[in-house]
Amino acid sequence: MLDTLTIRTQRTPASRLGELDPANIEFGKTFADHMFVVDYANGEWQEPQIVPFGDMAVSPANSALHYGQAIFEGMKAYRTTSGEVQLFRPTDNCRRLNLSAVRMCMPEIPEELFMQGLLQLVRLDSEWVPSQDGYSLYIRPFMFATDGLLGVRPSDTYRFVIITCPAGAFYNKPIRVRFEEKYVRSAEGGAGFAKNAGNYGAAMYPTKLAQQDGYNQLIWTDASEHRYVEESGTMNAIFVIDGRLITPAVSTSILDGITRKSVLQLARDWGMPVEERKVSVHEIVEAAQNGTLQEAFGVGTAATIASIAVIGFEGTDYTLPELTDAAFSRRVGKTLDAIRAGQAPDPHNWMVRV
Ligand code: COI
Repeated sequence: MLDTLTIRTQRTPASRLGELDPANIEFGKTFADHMFVVDYANGEWQEPQIVPFGDMAVSPANSALHYGQAIFEGMKAYRTTSGEVQLFRPTDNCRRLNLSAVRMCMPEIPEELFMQGLLQLVRLDSEWVPSQDGYSLYIRPFMFATDGLLGVRPSDTYRFVIITCPAGAFYNKPIRVRFEEKYVRSAEGGAGFAKNAGNYGAAMYPTKLAQQDGYNQLIWTDASEHRYVEESGTMNAIFVIDGRLITPAVSTSILDGITRKSVLQLARDWGMPVEERKVSVHEIVEAAQNGTLQEAFGVGTAATIASIAVIGFEGTDYTLPELTDAAFSRRVGKTLDAIRAGQAPDPHNWMVRV
């Protein structure tokens, strides 16, 4: 893609890439050399910059810290087998960031500014994009309020930043989850569809309780009756029952996941029946009991496809069948990997060359 915006770039005097141990990459811990930063003030976006990755000073009265005006995205850059770097559906992340911004009373970012910042940053740090199978450069665009004011009102000033980090598998084996029967992630009319920081902070306590009981994650259920499936941990949830792909329809309480819609698109391309609707806990438990629940998995940018091995409900654990190579979640995971590595056709033009 052409550079249509000149971004003042201050390169780091000393790259930290040599310190990275490719065999020991912990998700979200080691960041690439640079970051993209642009401030919003006086009703407009100011001059963007790329600077060395580093700490930022904020007022102790920073309103994002007090009232949670903070949103983010998750996306990835992949190295193809011929060595190029490409992004997966980046404009979808920009659109979703702007939906989150509107919900949180924050300014939208023009797509051109988002894309140019992203492309020029990833190009500058392209050597940080891993080439090992199953690895990528995780990209975290985020925006937060910067007013130093304890008044409870939307900030007048904001900062939008993009940082990146090499990443491998999020989960290294199929996960154990349980239906959440007490706490909720989001209610209808809430902000569950937005990627605002508070959704994730508030999820930590119920998740910790589940982890103390031996599960990796929760399957969130609806806020009023805990009867319907919402999301799984930080991912969307998908089930295969009797050859049909079944997933909760997106709503004001469910994130419109980009991996989710890519998986559903591929299933439709392959002629598989896809149902986006309310999915009841009862239906999943019954399918697990009568053996028609063939697969369950979470989908998200960080994890891509996370197979679910066990689902707990009301104190009983239901173990899912072992997956074969013909399983839908395996096939779709491999297909997404191949598209991203430039080894399979990209019929929906998802990839954008850096
Ligand atoms: C992502 O998959 O990008 C997410 O949002 C999960 C993240 C919180 C680790």
